[in-house]
Amino acid sequence: MIIAVDGPSASGKGTIAKALAKHFGLPHLDTGLLYRAVGHNVALMGGNPDDPKDALAACAFPDAMLDDPVLRDERTGGLASRVSVHPEVRAALFKRQQDFAQQPGGAILDGRDIGTVIAPDADAKLFVTASVDARTNRRVAEMERSGEQADRDEIRANIQRRDARDKSRATAPLIAADDAHLLDTSDMTIDLAVREAIAAVNSRI
Ligand code: C5P
Repeated sequence: MIIAVDGPSASGKGTIAKALAKHFGLPHLDTGLLYRAVGHNVALMGGNPDDPKDALAACAFPDAMLDDPVLRDERTGGLASRVSVHPEVRAALFKRQQDFAQQPGGAILDGRDIGTVIAPDADAKLFVTASVDARTNRRVAEMERSGEQADRDEIRANIQRRDARDKSRATAPLIAADDAHLLDTSDMTIDLAVREAIAAVNSRI
């Protein structure tokens, strides 16, 4: 069984994907981390994230980098969004994601293009959204919890900038697959969103 979970940042897709993985006993890949590692690596290499050659060179990041907490910060999210527009980068990360999806026992992947590009034949597809306000509030709360300085206006602007870039890029833009179940989590608790997601998957398998 392959489950694809897509949606914008702070929509709840990561939390939902993790909970689904636990519920259905499937291995889970957060594909955003791969793009974050490339973004972080291009900066470490002194390269330009907007230059496809530099971004492609940064795809050869060491696996250990995926465990680095720096990947989770806002700045790295912005770099990830910039390197992810290059078709070369998407192609370089394609096989790793597809191999994960095709493993014998099944898998769950979350990202932006899982249901459309990486696993178009997934058994169940979810497209998770939430209003910009709800997503801003979540990001602020998350940063405050981890002791990071949170500037609400800046976070909101970052979310909108990333959405615009992810939706408008020519290759694998953020868009719901035709057969995806839409889940708007704006007014949902995590528990409710997870319950709805499990019900949606169960109705499709
Ligand atoms: O999901 P997350 O916020 O960690 O992703 C960081 C960035 O990586 C996104 O803004 C998006 O530009 C890019 N990304 C992507 N395709 C994916 C996952 C993430 O383009 N499958």
